[in-house]
Amino acid sequence: MKHLITTSDFGSDEIEALFEDTRMFNDLQSNTYLSGKLVVTLFFENSTRTRSSFEIAAKRLGAEVVSLDVGTSSRSKGETIFDTVANLNAMKPDAIIIRHSECGLPGSLTDKVDCPIINAGDGTNAHPTQALLDLFTIVEHFDGDTQGKKIAIVGDVKTSRVAASNVKLLPRFGIEPIIVAPEHFKFNHNDFKQVNSLSEVIDEVDVVMSLRTQLERHSEVYYASLQEYAKDYCITQEVFGDRDILLLHPGPVNRNVDISDEMLEDKRNKILEQVTNGVAVRMAILKKLIK
Ligand code: NCD
Repeated sequence: MKHLITTSDFGSDEIEALFEDTRMFNDLQSNTYLSGKLVVTLFFENSTRTRSSFEIAAKRLGAEVVSLDVGTSSRSKGETIFDTVANLNAMKPDAIIIRHSECGLPGSLTDKVDCPIINAGDGTNAHPTQALLDLFTIVEHFDGDTQGKKIAIVGDVKTSRVAASNVKLLPRFGIEPIIVAPEHFKFNHNDFKQVNSLSEVIDEVDVVMSLRTQLERHSEVYYASLQEYAKDYCITQEVFGDRDILLLHPGPVNRNVDISDEMLEDKRNKILEQVTNGVAVRMAILKKLIK
């Protein structure tokens, strides 16, 4: 039984094959690959795009979707998450997609179920489907030529599971991450180049990925207001100039904090393309994992 807990669950050849299917699904839309199958989504943390993206992906493949409303489930009656999942598993779904605030939780469920578990984000740990859709968007933008490309990952890198997954995945395809962040948002290791401001590396990067400041994950208050942070880290026309750089963001974007209104209108921003690709990548992942 194959699961998707981190991007290392898929070999590079498997990812190439996954992207072939992703291209097919970007053209094909609705089909019957998974008709008669049942997918359960279990989101213990807020989500707009990831949950709807998975649900649309499953439905486009012809599968049925059951979304457990965690607020009204037995969790509020004191049942442990392991018992909730064991009960859902007993109803014989074909996949369980889970988002939870606890790092490692989706991985700890794999030996308790008879179907694939797909990690839709666990705390600050990993968000493998987001990293795969980010990589796919980059691969398509550069026509497959990703070797030697550099990506600036800007902002709250330390608490971002999107960054955590991307810095593991992208180097496997020849892309070097450069971290752009204030000291308190940097990694506390030096596996990657880390700088304080985007202007230091703007002339050497091919891609900029802006991140949301994850206030809900901070135990300290770093800024009196996000406007303080934005003064140094908001992606603006001024910092981009007319350079040919791809601009990405996993969403949700804080306008004029992460990225300026002007750059959100700019053709170099491919954020909505990421969202479109997200459905197709998740269709390819569901097709791959559900037997
Ligand atoms: C991210 C998440 O929830 O990890 N969003 C997403 O899934 N597209 C990033 C965020 O919340 O800032």
